[in-house]
Amino acid sequence: MSERGEAHATIVPPDYWGAEELPDLAEIPAQTWEAIDRWLAEHPGGRERLIPLLHVVQRRLGWLPFPVLEYVADRLGMSPVEVHGVVSFYHFFRTDKKGRFNIKVCMGTACYVRGAGRVIEAFADELGVEVGDTTEDGLFTLEEVRCVGACGLAPVVVVNDHVYGNVDPRRVRRIVKRHRREAEVETEAAGDGGGTAEGGKG
Ligand code: FES
Repeated sequence: MSERGEAHATIVPPDYWGAEELPDLAEIPAQTWEAIDRWLAEHPGGRERLIPLLHVVQRRLGWLPFPVLEYVADRLGMSPVEVHGVVSFYHFFRTDKKGRFNIKVCMGTACYVRGAGRVIEAFADELGVEVGDTTEDGLFTLEEVRCVGACGLAPVVVVNDHVYGNVDPRRVRRIVKRHRREAEVETEAAGDGGGTAEGGKG
């Protein structure tokens, strides 16, 4: 467990952040704290760095655990209240735990009539999870969403910020493989030796 995680986990109670309990700090890769410090050292400035830094953290972890938010607040000289305000304002920040890659299969009408049902089944089979669940290794969360505004590309799958169009079930394995590889490369580059968990609300 990170000392920094522990130190910054008790500033405000979990329910302040909408959490029922303190997340398991062991699930937050220890390199997270160093990555925040490193990014701040490489990007001198003030509190205007908050949003880009939150993006960096969410890309690494897939979500924003509140102990990390408290650490970010502390490092930027902000109060948890101010950080909470920003995080809850922007829909793209997530404080609910998700996998490193959030796979959203569009089940809106255009996608549905073009086979999205078979696509989501293929993802569920490939990942061994039900819709709404996260794989045991913490890498993938599978969700269904309504129209993502790219109907001309139906069926559409969005993995974090990447949009896949005209997806058919046969591409599913390749998509999963590509992101698994991406995670491996990041882990190797960070020297994590095992960290998993990228990514607002919705
Ligand atoms: S219905 Fe899927 S993008 Fe619009």
